[in-house]
Amino acid sequence: MSIPKAELHLHIEGTLEPELAFALAARNGVALPYADTDELREAYRFSDLQSFLNLYYGLMAVLRTEDDFADLTDAYLARAAAQGVRHAEIFFDPQAHISRGVGIGTVVAGLGRALDRSEAVHGVSTQLIMCFLRDESAESAMETLEAAKPHLGRIVGVGLDSAEVGHPPAKFREVYEAAAALGLRRVAHAGEEGPPAYITEALDVLGAERIDHGLRCLEDPELVARLVRDRVPLTLCPLSNVRLRAVDVLAEHPLPAMLDAGLLCTVNSDDPAYFGGYAEDNFRAVRAALGLSPERLRELARNSFLAAFLEHDEERRAR
Ligand code: ADE
Ligand code: ZN
Repeated sequence: MSIPKAELHLHIEGTLEPELAFALAARNGVALPYADTDELREAYRFSDLQSFLNLYYGLMAVLRTEDDFADLTDAYLARAAAQGVRHAEIFFDPQAHISRGVGIGTVVAGLGRALDRSEAVHGVSTQLIMCFLRDESAESAMETLEAAKPHLGRIVGVGLDSAEVGHPPAKFREVYEAAAALGLRRVAHAGEEGPPAYITEALDVLGAERIDHGLRCLEDPELVARLVRDRVPLTLCPLSNVRLRAVDVLAEHPLPAMLDAGLLCTVNSDDPAYFGGYAEDNFRAVRAALGLSPERLRELARNSFLAAFLEHDEERRAR
C-alpha cells in the first residue's frame, strides 16, 4: 500500500516513457535517432542537468497533436494513481512546443482533456503550472504569458525551469509581476545546480511561493533559517538528484538533514520516465537508502498536501 500524497514537482514531458515515444513517433511519422526502446534507455546516462535537457527536448519531437498530449497525460495519471498520488500539480513547457510549431492551444487542449476526466477515472485532482524556460529570453517568456491568456482558466500558476546555472531568476521579474497581476501562483526551480543566491532571488524578486529543488540552500544557514521561519516548501526530487549528479548516491542525499533543520520538504519525481521512478518509487528509495522512519514518511506526505495549491475542500477530499 502506498501512502496518499500530492505530487508537486512533475514535468509532464518528463513522463514520456520510451514505449509511448516510439508509438507516437510511428503515429506522427517522426524519425528517432534510436533503433528501439532499449537503445533509447541506454542513452539515459546523464552527467548533469544540461546533458539530460539535450535528450529531453529532442525526444519532445514526437509530441505533435492534441491526442499526443492527452495520451501522455492519461498514462501519467494512471501511473500516479497506482502510486498513491491523490493530487498532482503538473508542469508543462509551452516554449518547448511553440518553438517546434505546436501551439499552446493544442498543448493545453490535450492536457486539459486528460485532466478533465482525471478525478472520475483516476481519483486524482490536478492543477497545471506553465513554466518559462530560463535559458530563453525574458521577452520570450512575456510572449508566452501573452499566448497563454486565453487558457488561464486552466492554469493555476507559473514556474521557471531548464538550464539553471548562468540564468538567475531576476531576468524574469517583469513576467512574474505580470503573472501575479493575473492572479497566478508563482514557483521557481532554484538551487538544483545553481547557488543558494538564486533561491534568495527567486523569493525576493519573483515572489516564489515554493522552491523547486532548493537543495543547495544548505550552503547558506541564513537562507535555511528564513525558509524554516517562512515555511517555504521545497519540492525535492531525490532520484532526479542522483541521475543528474547533484548528489553522488542516494545514501548521501541531505533530505534527513533538511527535515531535521525544520524545512518543509516534499518528495517528488521530476521527470520519472528518465530518472527511474514515480512518486512512490521516490518515497521507497529514500526510505531504503536513508532509513527514514514511518513518522518521517508521514510528515513528507502531509507536507505535500500542506504545500499544494489546494482549496480547503479539495484538500479534504484528497486526503
Ligand atoms: N526541466 C525538466 N526537468 C528539469 C529539471 N530537473 N531542472 C530544470 N529544468 C527541468
Ligand atoms: Zn524539475
